[in-house]
Amino acid sequence: MSGCCVLTGAIPMRINIHQIKEMKQRGEKIPMLTAYDYPTAKLVDEAGVPLILVGDTLGQVVLGYNSTIPVTMEDMIHHIKAVSRAVKNAIIIGDMPFMSYQIGTKQTLANAARFLQEGGAQAIKLEGGVTVACTVRRIVDCGIPVMGHIGLTAQSIHQLGGFKAQGKTPETAQKLIDDAVALEQAGAFAVVLETMPTGLSQLISQKLAIPTIGIGAGAGCDGQVLVISDMLGLFTDFVPKHVKQYAHIANIMSSAVSQYVQEVKSGAFPTSKESVSMDETILAEIERRNSE
Ligand code: KIV
Repeated sequence: MSGCCVLTGAIPMRINIHQIKEMKQRGEKIPMLTAYDYPTAKLVDEAGVPLILVGDTLGQVVLGYNSTIPVTMEDMIHHIKAVSRAVKNAIIIGDMPFMSYQIGTKQTLANAARFLQEGGAQAIKLEGGVTVACTVRRIVDCGIPVMGHIGLTAQSIHQLGGFKAQGKTPETAQKLIDDAVALEQAGAFAVVLETMPTGLSQLISQKLAIPTIGIGAGAGCDGQVLVISDMLGLFTDFVPKHVKQYAHIANIMSSAVSQYVQEVKSGAFPTSKESVSMDETILAEIERRNSE
């Protein structure tokens, strides 16, 4: 089932945010995945995933940083461009990196616009609730769809004191509810709920008309998102509790590379199948000339 056909019948056109909201209204669960490069984005799109996030998790799973904080606008745009060359059906969401939407409205709008104009994304995502609601409103008013993101927001990891579940006390749970409502009122088309109790994310999902996309937030959300490198078993430095590994790609890659090393060393690779042949008489002539 291709994403475009699921959502728009026979007309091959890109999915839009209204169709994503309608999925919630129909009670249809919304799958979302991250992608950071052309071949992966192509596979994800062809599998019918309607929302593709070029997440700032690329800092960890692609660039090898130990958090998302070092990721820059230039890093993001480089990868959004690669993804947008591959994706025909899904909405591409560019993740605004740390401090790209906090310094001032002018810079925030310019950065958001770059994701669409230079990168080819159709929407942006940013972290925060009540405190970023005005920013969300300004971006939406410019015609740029915004996805919110609350709960365990990795860009605030030092403020939060580590990668731990959010919203477990009455006060913090209420704050997350207020954050979600503020994002909806500001015009966000969806909101990611990260690492919070299932009961809380279910309550938020019931309260909002816009879809909630959960990650480590249980089954009560309207959709789910995973980092592609986690769910494929490609990034194995650490595997968060919320991850289900649908494959073990790192093992496959590792044994392929070991086999290659061994075959190069033994001379088993390349064979004539992977080599270019030459007319025997021409070769003989060249050998004769070079032996004179
Ligand atoms: O950057 C990212 O991949 C994300 C997901 C964890 C939702 O924000």
